[in-house]
Amino acid sequence: MSHLLAIESSCDETSLAVLEEGQLKALTISSQIEFHRPYGGVVPELASRHHLEVIHPLLEETLEKAGIGLSDISEIAVTKGPGLSGSLLVGVAVAKMLGALLDVPVLGVNHMEGHLYSVRLEHDVPCPFMCLVCSGGHTQIVHVVEEGQHVILGETRDDAAGEAFDKVAKMVGLPYPGGPVIDKMAKAGGDKEAVDFPRPMLNKGYEFSFSGLKTAVRREWLEREQNPDALPDIIASFQEAVVDVLVQKLVRAGRKNGVSRLCVVGGVACNSRLREKLQERAAVDGFELYFPKPLFCTDNAAMIGRAAWDLRKHLLAEAGPALDVEVSLDMMRVNG
Ligand code: KG4
Ligand code: ZN
Repeated sequence: MSHLLAIESSCDETSLAVLEEGQLKALTISSQIEFHRPYGGVVPELASRHHLEVIHPLLEETLEKAGIGLSDISEIAVTKGPGLSGSLLVGVAVAKMLGALLDVPVLGVNHMEGHLYSVRLEHDVPCPFMCLVCSGGHTQIVHVVEEGQHVILGETRDDAAGEAFDKVAKMVGLPYPGGPVIDKMAKAGGDKEAVDFPRPMLNKGYEFSFSGLKTAVRREWLEREQNPDALPDIIASFQEAVVDVLVQKLVRAGRKNGVSRLCVVGGVACNSRLREKLQERAAVDGFELYFPKPLFCTDNAAMIGRAAWDLRKHLLAEAGPALDVEVSLDMMRVNG
């Protein structure tokens, strides 16, 4: 029986998982959000220190949950990039040390490809599928033609969608990370039609740009004299504008490329309005639609293990002692 140990430490979550033949057996996640909240964003030095502190206890906990010992591990998968260098380094160093100790291959996984295949932890989604990868650092529409052939149709020119949520929240005095807070506030009673914010590049190509929208929100907030009573409406209208753009582009990408399966992954895929609106559109337009559950949307090692399983033949060919952190790694194996 093959047991794969997966490690994720690219940003502010330390996470380990064990998968057996591509199926998740155990997952642990230690989130650092509380430590970074006072600073309104992730502080890289703090992040790497916390990864170092928790990774070994998490390893023991994960193996125990999976009911296996170190000697049962037959492969290791680790996020090699993109991400924060000091944070990535902790995961990669531990993976290489364990790989040498156990004499098993260490597969370096692209974090974005982890998100891409996260949907397969619960759903049997065959290729081709059209995937909106929507996290704190990236917004991309990726045509997954087959395992290992990922065509990026478009990405963001400036802020990622999650980044826009986080920055807007900070601007109006809401805590970090902004996405879940905005989602909750909008749901609790904001009027999404109160402000007609711009929908940037709605009907143009597959690229995104959210910085102009962010500026429009700032202007509205200042015009309303930063009145807290106006906040839920502004927030709900901002969210609606982001969601409209994401939905429109993903649906168009599916239609124009003749792909009937749509997926949304990454932290922003937790957004309840995005889920609701896409479900409505998919039902009307006849698409199959898949979201991972929220636990698998935000950063976790299960998705790294699943991507390693799905891309195994490519990753095994690349495995070796040269494995290193790649801070600005692009999505691999792109043929556009
Ligand atoms: O994928 P992820 O955990 O980390 C990265 O790889 O970046 O995504 C984190 C991002 C943050 O920007 C956070 O605000 C956003 O996902 N996010 C949300 C929601 N939950 C998390 N954005 C909108 N609505 C949510 N419910
Ligand atoms: Zn991520």
